[in-house]
Amino acid sequence: MNDPHHPIYHYQPGNWMNDPKLFFHNGEYHVFLQHNPKEAAWGNMHWAHAKSTDLVHWTPLPIALAPTPDSPDAKGCWTGCVVENDVKIHILYTGITPEGKQVQCLATSDDLIEWEKHAGNPVVSEKPEGFGDCFRDPCAWREGEEWKMIIGSEVGGVGGAALLYTSPNLTDWTFLHSLFTGRAEETGHDFECPDFFPLGGRHVLLTSRGQTFWHVGAYDGERFHRERWGMTDGGSFYAAKTLEDDKGRRILWGWIQERRTEEEQKAAGWSGVLSLPRVLTLLPDGTLGIEPVEELQALRGRHWRFEHLEIPAGEESLLLPEVEGDALEVRVRFAPADAKVYGILARCSPGLEERTEIVYLREDERLGNAPLALGEGEGLDLTVYVDRSVIEAFANGRACHTSRFYPERDDSRRIGLFARGGSVKIETVDVWEMKPI
Ligand code: FRU
Repeated sequence: MNDPHHPIYHYQPGNWMNDPKLFFHNGEYHVFLQHNPKEAAWGNMHWAHAKSTDLVHWTPLPIALAPTPDSPDAKGCWTGCVVENDVKIHILYTGITPEGKQVQCLATSDDLIEWEKHAGNPVVSEKPEGFGDCFRDPCAWREGEEWKMIIGSEVGGVGGAALLYTSPNLTDWTFLHSLFTGRAEETGHDFECPDFFPLGGRHVLLTSRGQTFWHVGAYDGERFHRERWGMTDGGSFYAAKTLEDDKGRRILWGWIQERRTEEEQKAAGWSGVLSLPRVLTLLPDGTLGIEPVEELQALRGRHWRFEHLEIPAGEESLLLPEVEGDALEVRVRFAPADAKVYGILARCSPGLEERTEIVYLREDERLGNAPLALGEGEGLDLTVYVDRSVIEAFANGRACHTSRFYPERDDSRRIGLFARGGSVKIETVDVWEMKPI
């Protein structure tokens, strides 16, 4: 809490974290993270574990998986998934062998705390022929009497591939074929951290390379036929995966990456942040809706409200009077605007020497790097969660852009609005102070 860049209402396990893996069990949300318990640098991958009952507060739990010397995961327990059969809870994950090879391993538990590695590991030891180096991050699900699993891989010169397997028991796996193969120029040369689930009558495949992409389409039990695709977030948000809770909500979390040097991360003693939970829905046009969960409202404290503001052409920016803080939720409804670019300024020093922009680019139709086309007469409804160095922005229920900003001044605590290349009218502004978790 004394580190001015460390978030106060986002979860961070200490030292290094990446890739969340989610599991809902008996009313509890469990998150497992790629984690290096020794330092704030990638390597020595363990599975950290925490749980929540309200999607806001997290209780750290003992490390779930650690590499075992001279075993198939001696060089790391990489990403995977958590599933339950009628007997036990299972983690399927990628082990890194002493030789550095990627193999798929299994561990089981009765209580999610004590994990026992399967004596017959690895359960998948060889990559099928014809696929590139990437062979990791299993994602399994039950389908009737059998289990299915996809493993992230690639077809050289083509793009990412999600290799489909089947099993009667979670230990004996048979390779079938690629469930779906992407195009490198669209969604990257390989697929890390695939996730696959039904949503609103379609199926969604998530894949990561550069960004986490969503693919919406039809699944016929053998192949996935993609209809639409896009980006889950345009910024510092990666390796995102989901769970389904007892309210039937499909909730997404990602790894918010740092934008500091490795030396700075090590010196700080922490690196990587768990994103806020985001609810996924299928929109009427067959694309993906993404919104923060409503439970986050429990963090709201002091409230400020403004109505009918305007930034006339040539003015550039205005600071909101009185509003101050480094942990805030800011919600702004912009009327349809003629400004070329406009948005919110966060972590502003009083004279605006220091600030970060959460920008909508009207002509490019983007929120930051995330595509967002506004319909005829549609305003911009922008919600920004500022949590010290973490900025998560959500717009119109369908675009996100996460960014990092590490202010150097301790008076960079103000919020502003800005417009360039024209004017913008603001209908309402709500700002809440956010409580620490
Ligand atoms: C994604 C990733 C995964 C891998 C893990 C290792 O960030 O590269 O593909 O399993 O991180 O930490």
